[in-house]
Amino acid sequence: MTIRVCVPREIRAGEQRVALVPDVVKKLSAMGVSVSLQTGAGELAGHGDSDYAADILSDENAFYSSADILLTVNPLQDAQIEKLKDGSILIGYLNPWSDLGRFKRLQEKNISAFSMEMIPRISRAQAMDALSSQASIAGYKAVLIASTMLGKFFPMLTTAAGTVRPSKVLIIGAGVAGLQAIATARRLGAIVEGYDVRAAVKDQVESLGAKFVDIDIKAEGSGGYARELTAEEKAMQQAILAKHVAAADVLITTAAIPGRPSPKIISREMVEGMKGGSVIVDLAAEGGGNCELTQPGETILHNRVKIYGPINVPSTVSGHASELYAKNLLNLLGLLIKDGTIHIDLDDQILKDSLITHGGAIVNAGIRDKVEGGAK
Ligand code: NAI
Repeated sequence: MTIRVCVPREIRAGEQRVALVPDVVKKLSAMGVSVSLQTGAGELAGHGDSDYAADILSDENAFYSSADILLTVNPLQDAQIEKLKDGSILIGYLNPWSDLGRFKRLQEKNISAFSMEMIPRISRAQAMDALSSQASIAGYKAVLIASTMLGKFFPMLTTAAGTVRPSKVLIIGAGVAGLQAIATARRLGAIVEGYDVRAAVKDQVESLGAKFVDIDIKAEGSGGYARELTAEEKAMQQAILAKHVAAADVLITTAAIPGRPSPKIISREMVEGMKGGSVIVDLAAEGGGNCELTQPGETILHNRVKIYGPINVPSTVSGHASELYAKNLLNLLGLLIKDGTIHIDLDDQILKDSLITHGGAIVNAGIRDKVEGGAK
């Protein structure tokens, strides 16, 4: 029987992305897969129903129960999980660090659920790495947001009335989002500094034309991620960073540690040391923020410094964010679908690491331990 891949209309408030774009649907059809979308699924990403060479279903129950593979952007809500066909496959962001009850429900429905967040950061997985494709968009957009909030130019400009100095931008956390923010701020002509606790990042920051803020802390964790800092390291970091923060017109923070609250790096005192009119865009707001004063989803003014904690930034670039996400999914489906049939190869590290529930069990040991330990 032909495999049916389905894409719902996202229901998270403010979400504008969609899991598949028309060009990627064509590629899936060429793989012998049939594709269905829920009415209006691509609307906010710029794609009307008629742009897709796919079945468009308006009956919600029929839509969910027909999916052999459901592709989503955001984690499903309970009512959506309830409608899934027993034994089907779910691929999308699952937010594996919170709302663990969701995995119990997926387990009970015998769903094979793949989490895009758990795709390993290895070379072979780069084409499927949605954390990277979406973080890159967030880093780019954060700079544009900051540039519109700042009452200054980014570049140096010589005018008949005189010359204005370029703005100084400091990017804290130089992972995928941070490096893209550095590149974007440089393209706009700012003087840019970057900082990260992983020493490997120094060369990458410098290759983009920015200066690396060197603090003698090496905090490489596992899987390429950073580890949490000790209290002593934090104090040392803040003492040195404070001078750089005070000199910046724009501060963009992106520091994260998977599964942990965002590290608090920018204290109230550091904000109070900044010049009036400066701007902080805290991309870590969803995890609580890197700045002590950040309020997720809000812009606040503290001592004439504007602090913005945006939520779901990739969604605001919905066209390209959806296009890249859809390509990530297509590449992952390429590992799952061979000659028109689905095969979950548990010897493949990418599939093994990203699979959370399968065969009526929670197969990811970390999540299983938490769920069995009563974590919510
Ligand atoms: P992330 O979103 O988890 O964190 C962002 C950045 O914040 C990281 O660079 C991290 O080192 C930094 N950070 C954490 N705590 C900090 C602190 N207290 N102060 C300053 N900075 C702090 O990271 P992202 O962007 O998801 O990248 C994680 C890793 O994955 C990196 O090593 C990256 O190079 C690697 N990667 C590998 C890929 C592949 O080979 N497939 C693709 C993309 C990323």
